[in-house]
Amino acid sequence: MSNTSAPDLSNQIIWLTGASSGIGEAIVGELAPLCQRLYISARSENKLLPMTDEFSNVTALPCDITDEQSMKEAAAIIEANDGRLDTLIANAGTCEYVDVNDFDTALFRRVFDTNVMGLVNTTAAALPLLKRSKRGYLVGVSSSVAMLAMPRAQAYGSSKAAITHFLESMKADLKSMDIDVSVVSPGFVKTPLTDANDFPMPMRISAGEAAKEIVAGIEKRHWHIHFPKRFTLILWALGHMPAFLRHRITAAMSRTETAKESN
Ligand SMILES: NC(=O)c1ccc[n+]([C@@H]2O[C@H](COP(=O)([O-])OP(=O)(O)OC[C@H]3O[C@@H](n4cnc5c(N)ncnc54)[C@H](OP(=O)(O)O)[C@@H]3O)[C@@H](O)[C@H]2O)c1
Repeated sequence: MSNTSAPDLSNQIIWLTGASSGIGEAIVGELAPLCQRLYISARSENKLLPMTDEFSNVTALPCDITDEQSMKEAAAIIEANDGRLDTLIANAGTCEYVDVNDFDTALFRRVFDTNVMGLVNTTAAALPLLKRSKRGYLVGVSSSVAMLAMPRAQAYGSSKAAITHFLESMKADLKSMDIDVSVVSPGFVKTPLTDANDFPMPMRISAGEAAKEIVAGIEKRHWHIHFPKRFTLILWALGHMPAFLRHRITAAMSRTETAKESN
């Protein structure tokens, strides 16, 4: 479902996180020619600067989403330059897979700090500026993995499920302020993040294709921007199967060898 009468992007001030590589970097190429000003964030300033040379309306705003203060300082620069923010695209994220035979709580902390608290910190910094827009817009990048509890996704999958829930709950409370909210659920996209995966990634698309889908969804302010559709619809259908069938399918996907302790 679209949000009604989406504003034109041409006079929009937009802030994009996770812009230094993968999907975010591809979004810069799609979005910069369409909007008034695009602020781009990541920790690696050296990867952001070439994009500011390529597009005169792009400004680098290096920051760390796990650091609340760093996000407030980045937002203060937008406030000083433009006084408002029309759209936040919270795309920065990370992925690590769990080995249940080597259960590592530090891994959970890293993934949740970046994906969940990172989104919270980014939203906290951006919200006062979004409230000053005529029709603010919060976009968060979750994942299609939130539709089905997959093997080894106890950290990544649950962090993305938390993000999807967070965004839907934000949508309820921001409605009265005329701030729209969208959730993005990509399937597999070829980026440095998935290049590290050692398992088959069906229907994987390029970062350029993903960026086109996201920008098209943003232009229409669709609530749920998910792609590639064949993949996300299969995942959605699996996620809505009776639990006993769903559990059989996901257990069959697991490659974990059970290391039972004997006593
Ligand atoms: N690729 C996929 O198949 C896929 C599928 C579903 C969802 N997603 C989601 O899409 C988003 C983008 O992923 P991607 O595949 O494009 O990954 P990527 O190429 O690894 O890019 C991740 C981006 O996030 C930034 N980032 C990570 N930690 C950060 C931090 N603490 N502070 C600031 N920036 C940080 C990175 O920049 P620095 O390292 O320079 O800070 C980088 O720009 C993620 O949220 C991911 O979970 C990806």
